[in-house]
Formats: sequence, structure tokens, C-alpha cells
Amino acid sequence: MIEAIYKRRSIRHFLQKAIPAEDLEEILKAGCWAPSEKNQQPWKFIVIRGDERKAMVKKLKEGIQKNREGAENAMFGKEYAKFIPSAIYTARVLEQAPVIVFVINTKGISYRKNLSIPEHMMEISDIESVAAAIQNMCLEATARNIGSLWTCNVFFAYDELKEWLGIEGEMAAAIAFGYTDKEIRPMPRKPLDQVVEYRGDYPAEWMGK
Ligand SMILES: Cc1cc2nc3c(=O)[nH]c(=O)nc-3n(C[C@H](O)[C@H](O)[C@H](O)COP(=O)(O)O)c2cc1C
Repeated sequence: MIEAIYKRRSIRHFLQKAIPAEDLEEILKAGCWAPSEKNQQPWKFIVIRGDERKAMVKKLKEGIQKNREGAENAMFGKEYAKFIPSAIYTARVLEQAPVIVFVINTKGISYRKNLSIPEHMMEISDIESVAAAIQNMCLEATARNIGSLWTCNVFFAYDELKEWLGIEGEMAAAIAFGYTDKEIRPMPRKPLDQVVEYRGDYPAEWMGK
């Protein structure tokens, strides 16, 4: 599994090849074994395959188009216009992925609602729990030589997709899964000394024990 952490890449090119049901089930099971706040497991996984993918991508493209036109009910304002090409690219990737798993935060609260402080904190905890499930699935896929792409560009069509999915709760992400024949170079990571800050040290008597 540790190997999978370093081997995983975001895959944006998928072969038109089915993922065996047993592999998919193990991936979904890995999601269920993520830690979660008070073990509430605030997730649901909706597996999209076949023609359902086309219907889903159609909704996504509609949402992106609204943002492109600067429609009043678009999710993102003009200052996010620079992200539209990336959203279009993501839609293309999702179109050719054999499996797309929508990850739902079942306890999620609508962005339309103003959250109280405790609601806000709980929302963060739930999102963290769901994110752990997503990463578990991506790692399990990697261990099975199955590529994955964690996508939040689906938010460009948040309302459209939420309605299409007909879900309770909120959409957390969509993950594309499939095989690839492309070697992807790792994206650079910040060096440890830029992201880690040590404070304090062990008592001397603990050392060498
Ligand atoms: C929360 C989240 C949302 C992401 N959304 C997208 C997306 O919509 N489209 C996409 O192509 N990649 C998306 N990515 C993938 C990132 O671009 C990728 O993880 C990052 O560039 C590092 O590359 P690596 O995953 O290959 O290590 C997302 C990743 C995360 C964690």
C-alpha cells in the first residue's frame, strides 16, 4: 500500500476496457474502510458506467457552458473563467473513463445555507472523512494497476449533476477509474522543509530506548 502512495498518478487517458467487477468492489470496499468522524461513514458511492456516462457528461458540459456564458445561475463567477479549459478537459477525460464513481457526502449541507460554527466544523470533519475514502479508493485502484482521477471540476455543473444524481446530501467529487497505457511523470512535490514545522523535542530520557 505504501508503494501505491508513491505510484499513484492522476490519469487522464483511459483505455476502452472494462474493470472486472471484483476489482471495482475491492476499490469501493477500500473506500468504506477509511476513518471517519465518530465512524459515521458519511459517504455514498454512485457508480456510473455505459450510457449513463454520456448522460452525466452532457450535464457537466451544460454546467460548464453556463459558466462560460457567465449565466446568472452559473456556479463560478468571471474570476474563475481561467479554469474553464481545465473543466472542459476534465469532461473529456470523464467521457472516456470506463467507470466514474460519484462520491456523495451524505451529511453534507447545501452551499446555499449559512452554517453555524458547529455546523461548519462538522461539515469540515465530514469532508475530511469523505476525502479519506476517496484517497483509499485511488490507492486501492493503483495497487490493482487501475488508474484514477479525482475530479472536482464536476462542481462547474454542481446543481445540474446533483439533480441528475437525485441525491440526498452533497456532491464531494467524481473519480474516474480505468486502465491506461500511458506513463505519467510524477508532479513535483514541495520539499519537506517547506511544509513541515517541528516544535519541541522528546525528553532526553526517551532517546535511545
Ligand atoms: C480535490 C481534488 C480535485 C481535483 N480535481 C481535478 C479535476 O477536476 N480535474 C483534473 O484533471 N485533476 C483534478 N485533480 C488532480 C490534481 O490535479 C492532481 O492530483 C495534482 O496535480 C497532483 O498530481 P498527481 O495526482 O498525479 O500526483 C484533483 C485533485 C484533488 C485532490
